[in-house]
Amino acid sequence: MSEQRIIEICQSAKIIVTCGTGGVGKTSVAAALGLEAALKGRRVVVITIDPARRLADAIGLGEGKGNELQRVPLDASGELWVTMLDVQETFDSLVRDTSPSEERTAEVMNNSFYRSLSRSLSGTRDYMAAERLHSLHNDPRFDLVIVDTPPSRNALDFLESPERLARFLRHPIVKFLVAPSRGGLRFANAAMQPVLKAISMVVGGDALTGAASFLKVFDGMEAEFSRRALIVAKALRSDASNFVIVTAPSADALTEADHFVSELSRLGISLQLIVANRMPPRFGTLTATEEQAAAAATSGDLALAHDLIAGLCEDADAADASIASFVQRTTGRFPQVATAHATELPTDIHDMASIRALAEQLAASPSRQ
Ligand SMILES: Nc1ncnc2c1ncn2[C@@H]1O[C@H](COP(=O)(O)OP(=O)(O)OP(=O)(O)O)[C@@H](O)[C@H]1O
Ligand SMILES: [Mg+2]
Repeated sequence: MSEQRIIEICQSAKIIVTCGTGGVGKTSVAAALGLEAALKGRRVVVITIDPARRLADAIGLGEGKGNELQRVPLDASGELWVTMLDVQETFDSLVRDTSPSEERTAEVMNNSFYRSLSRSLSGTRDYMAAERLHSLHNDPRFDLVIVDTPPSRNALDFLESPERLARFLRHPIVKFLVAPSRGGLRFANAAMQPVLKAISMVVGGDALTGAASFLKVFDGMEAEFSRRALIVAKALRSDASNFVIVTAPSADALTEADHFVSELSRLGISLQLIVANRMPPRFGTLTATEEQAAAAATSGDLALAHDLIAGLCEDADAADASIASFVQRTTGRFPQVATAHATELPTDIHDMASIRALAEQLAASPSRQ
């Protein structure tokens, strides 16, 4: 039993990642946790790696461009900021940060393959999400970074991308290709075909020819890329990171929640919190059976009302039971996981008032372990 585990997480986590299937409330919960932490005095940034603008819209902010940080006006001792992920902008600043000279920066920026990289190299978006997380995590302006993931079964792929990239950059074939020697000629050589085929399996398809010159201009910079990539990978597995699965009580959402539990387990990442969101609200204090008995004992409108409430109680009981069985399945893998609940609010979550209402419910729900 761990009371208010959610408060503890908001007070001490350095990274929080919300995941779950589409529409369960990942973005709303990310914002609510951000608000809760800011109210506790922390300087929080919520980054959404989903290209949809739902986060800024939910918080009621206007258009923010690229990686721009937008501060949410808040009467709190802490701060709440939101931002999105601009893949190209993130890659550009990574190049600027790691490049040994301005000339080299310009050379990379002018490389045609580099310019089209965000489209051609599979996994670039994932890698840049990890890189952005690295830079926000190391930004002295923030105490806590909350990552809101997109509605995709593969939403956690970005967690693996740092290692994938580091592995790729350390691969003997890549080392061979970027080694300063006869350079581009290597690619023209027929003997290189099997090597190229092997690389194409790593970087994905037709990106290859361009990748050759790209790797050349990157010569020397890849060490810093790998270093940063591995720092993020480590931070994500440390105690400072807290993973949250958001789910609704529906069978579909719970099947997907099971999938995310397996994914986290496969990635060696521990799950700290389950948020059961969009739960049917409870009316009154009587159980479904008591309401049914009351319906039988009365007549007319009152009986009808008791009958209706009995039905709603049954829905709420069924939702509770589905969540309880998901929690039980999950504790098999993650014994320390806590659970917080929030009901379906009467309105959509589209402004700070509704995010606050959600945050209050989450903070007040007795966390169960
Ligand atoms: N507790 C709640 N009460 C009422 N409406 C809610 C609640 N939680 C989420 N919603 C609504 O459900 C919709 C989806 O919420 P949200 O965008 O937070 O989910 P998401 O998991 O991030 O979705 P996506 O997978 O599309 O990114 C929104 O319209 C939001 O207002
Ligand atoms: Mg979302």
